Amino acid sequence: MARILITSAIPYINGIKHLGNLVGSQLPADLFARYNRARGHEVLFICATDEHGTPAELAAAKVGKPVEEYCAEMHQVQAEIARGFRLSFDHFGRSSSQRNHRLTQHFAGRLAANGLIEEVSEKQVFSIDDNRFLPDRYITGTCPNCGYEAARGDQCENCTKQLDPTDLINPRSSISGSTNLEVRETKHLFLKQRSLRDKLEAWIDSKTDWPILTTSIAKKWLNDGDGLQDRGITRDLHWGVPVKNGDQDWPGMEGKVFYVWFDAPIEYIAGTAEWADAHGYPDSAWERWWRTDKGAQDVRYVQFMGKDNVPFHTLSFPATIMGSGEPWKLVDYIKSFNYLNYDGGQFSTSQGRGVFMDQALSILPADYWRWWLLSHAPESADSEFTWENFQGSVNKDLADVLGNLVSRVTKFATAKFGATVPEGGQFGPMETALVADLGARIADYAAMMEAMEVRKAAAELRAIWVIGNEYLQAAAPWTVVKTDPDQAQAMVRLALNLIRVYAVLSRPFIPDAAEAIMAAMGSQDWTWPDDISAAMRVLPPDHAFSVPENLFRKITDEERVDWQARFSGVRT
Ligand code: MF3
Ligand code: ZN
Repeated sequence: MARILITSAIPYINGIKHLGNLVGSQLPADLFARYNRARGHEVLFICATDEHGTPAELAAAKVGKPVEEYCAEMHQVQAEIARGFRLSFDHFGRSSSQRNHRLTQHFAGRLAANGLIEEVSEKQVFSIDDNRFLPDRYITGTCPNCGYEAARGDQCENCTKQLDPTDLINPRSSISGSTNLEVRETKHLFLKQRSLRDKLEAWIDSKTDWPILTTSIAKKWLNDGDGLQDRGITRDLHWGVPVKNGDQDWPGMEGKVFYVWFDAPIEYIAGTAEWADAHGYPDSAWERWWRTDKGAQDVRYVQFMGKDNVPFHTLSFPATIMGSGEPWKLVDYIKSFNYLNYDGGQFSTSQGRGVFMDQALSILPADYWRWWLLSHAPESADSEFTWENFQGSVNKDLADVLGNLVSRVTKFATAKFGATVPEGGQFGPMETALVADLGARIADYAAMMEAMEVRKAAAELRAIWVIGNEYLQAAAPWTVVKTDPDQAQAMVRLALNLIRVYAVLSRPFIPDAAEAIMAAMGSQDWTWPDDISAAMRVLPPDHAFSVPENLFRKITDEERVDWQARFSGVRT
């Protein structure tokens, strides 16, 4: 049994995330967490809301609420939607927690003690009309790298380049739109990432098993120098973690807060401490996941994120961890994703384009979305959501292949032999062949899940559903029953057991349907079918089962057309 720590990039608090955000971090992280739990490993799966910084302040101002209140409400909203998608976090924390305040201040103090913090008098954009500095997203302009016109002061959404507000061409205030701006001096703390460059490079080079997407982005920032500029880790904002040196005041930094990208990844650790607090566990309970002097040397730590997050997780956050000089756990594997596009364009939060998580759940159950998103995860390249493709996958994979098999078998069995597993006959060559085939495919499926090859794992799972259909087609118990009812009973017995195995295998992807199938099989045996022959005999003769109601329904052409129109425009 292994110990596996899993974190998903923590979603910004402002607003509800779209399906592209979901498939780029939280959903595949959940798949991996569920799979590893199913294999009997000890899993801790942590996520949180990313509550500080300009996005939160701007969103709160827009709805006219104090930012604390806005964040508390939106955290509840996001937590509820996460439950709706069956995201199985062990804890869904908040980066504004006291735990995160203290840990963030602790890390800053350690970095300062190790000579890795520099106080810099910096030129920052000041808005005369707004009477304030405009850090990060408070300023909008044209990206100097790619020419995208709505780039924000911290990062260009289009080309992912990390920016400084003063880099932007034609800058304007995101609050008032004012271009009445000037550059003023203000003092900030800088993390001397450059001095950690060689250490970071050696560490990244040692990760030979990382996905190409992760490594190529990390190397790019490492080598063109860009990602390793010493970076300002404080801001002239009110909302955030107050700048302190451990628990001491930091002279000259009064009224300033840490930059959101400094405190957000620290929330992975703080969120684990929040988890322990929520359960009344002592500090040792979370430290054994994070401190390599307290048990975490045995932990495998895996992070999930979209590609725009990779520089922060391969360079900035590791720089914080390494620079602390303390034995904190570094990430072992970073699974990153390309972007999911929406129906001929991009998902866009700012423009409200695409399907957002709450809207998705309002029209169909979580499993439908989980299946499509995971089976089309943007791994090797960007992928695209279209309603035609979604309808096709749901109707074929879920309704025709899996759903139809379950309902056909259970209905036929009930009609011919009653609602218990029939006892007649023996497994013949066809059954033996199916079992052998299944064993090999389950091994492939497990290998893909372990490698976090999400699309390939989905394809393997689907193939496992398909061979069950092919078996039934070839065995044809509905014909055999007329001439050799005993043999038909053996076939049905095998098929019912196969259905239970499908519930186990499918649960990481489609947990609700899997649970409905398992319940219909009258079982709660979720043991992974390591021994497939044994697994095909778990439901013994005379065991009671039932026909599950409406496992999956098909999406009609009418619905497809209606939804396509409904979600084409701007979210209201
Ligand atoms: N909130 C960021 C985003 O949605 C992700 C933060 S991940 C963390 O892009 F490392 F900072 F936690
Ligand atoms: Zn750009």
